[in-house]
Amino acid sequence: MGWLHWERFMCNIDCDKDPNNCISESLYMQMADVMVKEGWKEAGYEYVCIDDCWPSHQRDAKGRLQADPKRFPGGIKKLADYVHSKGLKLGIYADVGKNTCAGYPGSLGYYETDAQTFADWGVDLLKFDGCNMDWKLLGEGYVNMSKALNQTGASILYSCEWPLYEWQFRQPNYTAIRETCNHWRNYADVYDSWNSVKSILDWTASHQDIIGPSAGPGGWNDPDMLVIGNFGLSHDQQESQMALWAIMAAPLLMSNDLRDICPRSKDLLQNRRIIAISQDPLGRQGYRTVDSFEVWERPLYKNQLAIAVLNKQEIGGPRGFSISVAPGWKICSPQCNVTQILPQFKEIGVQTLNSKVVVSVNPSGTALLTVTPINRVLTGSHKLHWQDTPVKHNMPFLK
Ligand code: GLA
Repeated sequence: MGWLHWERFMCNIDCDKDPNNCISESLYMQMADVMVKEGWKEAGYEYVCIDDCWPSHQRDAKGRLQADPKRFPGGIKKLADYVHSKGLKLGIYADVGKNTCAGYPGSLGYYETDAQTFADWGVDLLKFDGCNMDWKLLGEGYVNMSKALNQTGASILYSCEWPLYEWQFRQPNYTAIRETCNHWRNYADVYDSWNSVKSILDWTASHQDIIGPSAGPGGWNDPDMLVIGNFGLSHDQQESQMALWAIMAAPLLMSNDLRDICPRSKDLLQNRRIIAISQDPLGRQGYRTVDSFEVWERPLYKNQLAIAVLNKQEIGGPRGFSISVAPGWKICSPQCNVTQILPQFKEIGVQTLNSKVVVSVNPSGTALLTVTPINRVLTGSHKLHWQDTPVKHNMPFLK
């Protein structure tokens, strides 16, 4: 969980005209300050991440990458020290090929040098892009950078875009990707629009049998940044992004301006119950189970289940959906307890297989619920009591 500059600040390098929003050390220092002051860190957001456009166009005399001296006068090491002094972590960006997507120096031919430079600076995460690289060499490049990072002995989270660039030519090998990367982008860049968020959900659902099983502690599919708190999504759509990113076990990397964010978006991004689903210790990715009124389900720790119901009809008013239709509802035998988290928190209470629970969902909004099975256990002394013990339910990937 953290913050990444790309979607909101892109390659804004004009610090003369736009000093407050350009890619400079002060942007990350300010975000780090706000993350501590405004409860982001406490909610779990930890990484402050630099994306493209941070370096100078030239490497130094020893072939090392260097930050643009005008925009990062203190250099990256000092910035990392600052971010660490706040109890946060720093992420940086580089590219497996000759140049980054925005045309800055790439790491091809410099994997060891760059890995060592990042380690020397105290960087905690590397987002490694895949522009300007022969696609047949992508896998080799990503694996070699992974080795170079490991060789430094530093603990650096490795965020890849390997499958995104490989999908254009063939189906990537997710076993190799999971062995190499800590999370990986599969699909196009997120934009600040509902169309963009929807297209990511559609792509993910239609490839869930291929990508879903590779997610688990240590390695995750990355549907790209949360754009909540920006301009393009209504509040209902922001709730949908938050709920579905939690269901997809996605890294939660916000790209917004934390210095100026509306209280409703902030509350949504800091919602502890949604974050708990997102960070569930079982570490399984959720999947779409019904696609008319779209239903997604994610198995959680202790046989709980999260269910998200997305109303994809973009006309009319709120629609009712009977959640007992969701395949996962079978864990309600003999009984279950249902809690609604979105659109507002509500204890729906104890239910059975035959209960009819109808949730109301706004157009392009999402209702998010957790379902906890309750098992009736008969003990030797003819005593009946209810106990929270595991129930097996047959979900895809749970074979
Ligand atoms: C690619 C990546 C984005 C961002 C830009 C930077 O498009 O997918 O996430 O890093 O490059 O140039």
